[in-house]
Amino acid sequence: MPDPSDGTWEAVDAYLVGALLPPDAALDATLAASTEAGLPAIQVSALQGRLLELLARAVGARSILEVGTLGGYSTIWLARALPADGRLVTLEIDPTHAEVARRNVAGAGLAGVVEVRVGPALATLDQLAGEGAGPFDVVFLDADKAGLPDYVTASLGLSRPGTVIIVDNVVRKGGVLDAGSADPDVVGVRRCLELLGSHPRLSATAIQTVGVKGHDGFAVALVGAEPTPA
Ligand code: SAH
Ligand code: DHB
Ligand code: MG
Repeated sequence: MPDPSDGTWEAVDAYLVGALLPPDAALDATLAASTEAGLPAIQVSALQGRLLELLARAVGARSILEVGTLGGYSTIWLARALPADGRLVTLEIDPTHAEVARRNVAGAGLAGVVEVRVGPALATLDQLAGEGAGPFDVVFLDADKAGLPDYVTASLGLSRPGTVIIVDNVVRKGGVLDAGSADPDVVGVRRCLELLGSHPRLSATAIQTVGVKGHDGFAVALVGAEPTPA
């Protein structure tokens, strides 16, 4: 689909960053190291990262689960919301990405609260459930989009009433509109949204965004109580 931006979205993002976000050497270094290592520049924007941090702080998060680490940029934003004895577990399939992320997280002074686990996310989520990990206070889903329905279901098993689940990239320039799509990412996002909208334990919304990442959006869901057996 065409991207109608004439540069205004990017200019407004730059203005908002200047107005709202202090300079940040650790995050600048993270982006530089990620570029240097050849990682794709698909991390959340600075303004989105700040939103993740503020949401996690607003709910008093002490434990955070992230699916999709890349170079640890969103990881660092989220981990900054945690108290010194908090914990963030982030899942990454690519060992190179994971290694870059570990270095970036350490450079940001957050190695003590962040654990990067390497492997396919669904297997790692199973592993976490088997260990009795969680419940997590905040979950951020930002890995492959085809796996989203499974990640939501697995996240529910690692949640408590009050857990906030945030899902990135649920609009993709309107790609989500294509009900007949054979693209596994689109199918995954659409099934994810159907699940968020119909699951008895979830109350959800989604917000479209424009900015340096083009036209996209994120979903936010709040986990409710387990249904009581009849
Ligand atoms: N959250 C990051 C961006 C993540 S990009 C940020 O905003 O800074 C998506 C990441 O998910 C990539 O690093 C990719 O390697 C990883 N990924 C893709 N498929 C995966 C899977 N099945 N399991 C775990 N990670 C996966
Ligand atoms: C892209 C953007 C993302 O935020 C993501 O998680 C994966 C891919 C992209 O722009 O291709
Ligand atoms: Mg994303």
